[in-house]
Amino acid sequence: MPNLDPMDELLEAARAASRSAYCPYSNFHVGAAIRAGGRIFLGANIENASYGLTVCAERTALFAAILAGQPKVEAIAVACVDAPEGSKSEQLVPCGACRQVLAEFASSETPVMIDRVGRLTLGDLLPMAFRLLGQPG
Ligand code: THU
Repeated sequence: MPNLDPMDELLEAARAASRSAYCPYSNFHVGAAIRAGGRIFLGANIENASYGLTVCAERTALFAAILAGQPKVEAIAVACVDAPEGSKSEQLVPCGACRQVLAEFASSETPVMIDRVGRLTLGDLLPMAFRLLGQPG
């Protein structure tokens, strides 16, 4: 592979991870990739017949990192590969619940690369995140 920018590499990983989504209800494949401890952890949305039990791609990626002993999130990428061409950014960005869950393990400066939107920070997406603890580590 040619030398990709690390954020572009993370975005490519997120796009590829979307293929692992279990989304028979929405047919809306979402992939996420999280860099933590210098490694890349993948996630995809996993739906359920009881719709509200669905877990988003961002959280499955985050949980994979935590379970591997790498809870310090360095960067995040998300790809909603089934959003139609010309979708507004609202259809492409992480949901509010995921923003709050990510904020537990990332800082407001943590970069978030969103497919077809661009590079933001977690603080752009969730200003004034609720916190009880300081940043991990
Ligand atoms: N979804 C995600 O995986 N991440 C988000 O941030 C927004 C929504 C999933 C949940 C559901 O499986 C599908 O997209 C449609 O809402």
